[in-house]
This record gives sequence, structure tokens and C-alpha cells, in this order.
Amino acid sequence: MKSLILNRSTALAITACIGLYAAGAHSADYPDVKIGPTFNEKGQLVQPKDFRKWVFIGAPLTPNGLNNGNAGFPEFHNVYVEPAAFEQYRKTGTWPEGTMMVKELHLTQKGPLPDGSSVEPSGRGYFPGGGPSGLDVSVKDSKRFAKTKNWGYFNFGHHSPPYSAVSTESPKEACAGCHIDNAKEDMVYIQFYEPVLTALPLP
Ligand code: HEC
Repeated sequence: MKSLILNRSTALAITACIGLYAAGAHSADYPDVKIGPTFNEKGQLVQPKDFRKWVFIGAPLTPNGLNNGNAGFPEFHNVYVEPAAFEQYRKTGTWPEGTMMVKELHLTQKGPLPDGSSVEPSGRGYFPGGGPSGLDVSVKDSKRFAKTKNWGYFNFGHHSPPYSAVSTESPKEACAGCHIDNAKEDMVYIQFYEPVLTALPLP
């Protein structure tokens, strides 16, 4: 029993050390965020953990029923921002170095109506609950991603979890190009999140 306790506390101590080491490395590289991106030696992004606890800023929806039955992304696009980056943006209007944004896709429930919608107590529409089905992450780092306007884009899979543990930066044609052409400000589609990012008082 005693050795079990020792083993457990040793394991906890090691885990704590790894955690501290990782946190130290991040804050040194990206002083204005709390949870910075981790890149492995190949330059791949390590999948951020616990992003569902970050600040939720919006959920665009492009269902099959509104896209001739063939939407590229028929799910809710749940968008989260790392909390310290969110606070910085609210204060300064600029995304700090090391900002991470996550877009996790969530399938709608399959409704019985021809366009895939259903009628629920709140009305007719599309409802989440079909489960997570994909993960995209963007990272701001003006040195690493200077060629794509300071942001790098990473896809961890378009399927149900588990997602890939690491992801290689997607080529410009696959991701950054469309953000360069269409996003309203600094590569981010803030036109969809603006009320949460700027106008509303913080709760
Ligand atoms: C054809 C245009 C297009 C391409 C290509 C594209 N995106 Fe986006 N992206 C959007 C739009 C539009 C939004 C706004 C939210 C939404 O509608 O999903 C968005 C939002 C995002 C967000 C949320 C933060 C933000 O910038 O608004 C992330 C993260 C993201 N995309 C990552 C990626 C990744 C990774 C790829 C490549 C695998 C990619 N995107 C390719 C159009 C595109």
C-alpha cells in the first residue's frame, strides 16, 4: 500500500513538472497568452487540449438542407478562442502572438423533415447533438507564419474523435488563401463574432 502511495505521488510530481515545464516554455515564447501553441521538432502543431473550456464566440451553420444536400461542412462550426487572447483582443483590438482559435464541427441531429430539420419545443430548425466531427485550429505567430499573413492553419481530421495528435501546417491553397481573401480583419472572420468580441459588456 505504502509503495502504491509513493508511486502515485511520484507520478503526480512528474506530471506537475511536465506541466510547469510546458507552461514555462509557452509563456516565454508567447507572453500575452496563457495557453500557447506547442510545436514538435518537425514544426507540427500538437492538438490543443481542453479547448471546449475556452471562450465560445460563435457557431456558423451550413446544413445540407440549405446547400443542395451537399454541404462541404454540414455541421455547426463551434468557434473557441484561448481565454487570455480573448481578453487581450477585448482590451487592445489586436490578437496577440500565440493566439489559438479552434473550430470544432458538430453534426446536427438528423431531423425527419425533407431538409433535415426537425421541430422541437423551441421551433423548427437544426439542432446540435449529432456529435463532434472535425477539428481545425489557427495560430498567430508572425515569425513562423510570415508567408501567410502571420497565421498558420491546421486540420486535425474531419471525422469523429479521436482527432490526430499532431497536424502539419496546411498549404496556403487549402486554408490561409480563403482567410486572406475573405476574412474581415487580421485573417479572422470577426464579422460573425463581432458582438461577442467588441460590443457586449463582459458578463
Ligand atoms: C473557402 C474558404 C475557407 C477555407 C478554404 C478555409 N476556411 Fe477557415 N473559415 C472560413 C469561414 C467563412 C470561417 C468563419 C466561420 C465559418 O463559417 O465556419 C472560417 C473560420 C475558421 C476558424 C475560426 C476562426 C476564424 O478565423 O474565423 C478556423 C480556426 C479555421 N477557419 C480554420 C481553417 C483551416 C484549418 C482550414 C484549412 C483546413 C480552413 N479554415 C480553410 C472559410 C474558409
